[in-house]
Amino acid sequence: MLLVKSAGREFMGQWKAEFGRHLPDLEVVWWDDPEADLDRARYVLVWQPVPGWLARIPNLEVIFSSAAGVEHIVSDPQLPRHLPIVRQQSEELAQTVGEYVTLATLMLSRDQPRMAGAQARVAWDYFEPPRAAVDTRVGLLGLGAMGQRAAAMLRGIGFKILGWSRAPRTIDGIACHHGPGGLDTVLAGSHILVSLLPETNETRGLLDGRRLRQLPQGACVINAGRGSAVVLGDLAGALDDSHLAYAMLDVFETEPLPADHPAWRHPRIIVTSHVAGYATVPAKAAYVADCIKRHRRGEPLPHLYDPIRGY
Ligand code: NDP
Ligand code: OXD
Repeated sequence: MLLVKSAGREFMGQWKAEFGRHLPDLEVVWWDDPEADLDRARYVLVWQPVPGWLARIPNLEVIFSSAAGVEHIVSDPQLPRHLPIVRQQSEELAQTVGEYVTLATLMLSRDQPRMAGAQARVAWDYFEPPRAAVDTRVGLLGLGAMGQRAAAMLRGIGFKILGWSRAPRTIDGIACHHGPGGLDTVLAGSHILVSLLPETNETRGLLDGRRLRQLPQGACVINAGRGSAVVLGDLAGALDDSHLAYAMLDVFETEPLPADHPAWRHPRIIVTSHVAGYATVPAKAAYVADCIKRHRRGEPLPHLYDPIRGY
């Protein structure tokens, strides 16, 4: 049996139909269905489990995160730590994150906020951006599935890409850096900085005031990884004194972002509602079904969360 807590109960018909196409013998049940016999559940597909719930499933074998990130699962103090956690990956997810990063990069590099402001004032405001895409360096923090797709799309437009990862990487067309020294180089060289980092002990609070001020004057910040990577008060300070020009933020430590959060009304911050990447029910079901088939055959599972690395 697979217990599902993803996309809302109203999608259960679709989940059942999609899993039925791939694994006709798999029973698919909504996570808190009173009829569900927890003893029979071997798998869960979950976004934001209620703390303690996973520990109450006695024969659970694999946890599938409904998202690429897993902090919503590993933050549960009662999580059965011995269980494998499979991170979500799909062509759709990488493509949509890449599209969002491309959209955000173009909006900020072409100063779309100025265009929108001109229209609001009914002002004809011809201007040229400070630099062309081919002269603009984009620093990508995180060179995983999401970061690499975003890099490929941005390179197609002509942006120059600097990348940062934990371990050394060599990727065609990206000036790759890693580790703390590498971060200094990427920050100093980026006109636009994009975070696609997972939330870990090492990435939490990474972009504080000191690091944000290592960016060149007039730089922009895009965060589509996890909210905790950016210290929002420090970011607002760097925007307020014009060290930075704009920020576009898709992810926040508290989601939904509370209505009274200053980011909503900051004139230089664009807020989006964790919409950067998405994968449809068919794509997620196909991925999870494939993993379950592998698990049943005793084969290794892909994209496993590594508790040592934290992602
Ligand atoms: P991956 O695990 O494939 O890649 C993570 C990247 O981050 C790797 O390059 C990794 O380095 C790097 N990294 C991790 N920790 C550090 C560190 N301490 N220092 C430097 N680099 C580090 O993940 P994905 O690309 O699939 O996803 C990344 C994140 O994007 C997700 O965890 C999620 O938080 C977010 N996301 C957001 C979405 C949205 O809608 N806003 C949608 C999908 C994902 P290395 O290469 O050395 O392993
Ligand atoms: C995420 C996702 O991790 O949407 O944010 O997959």
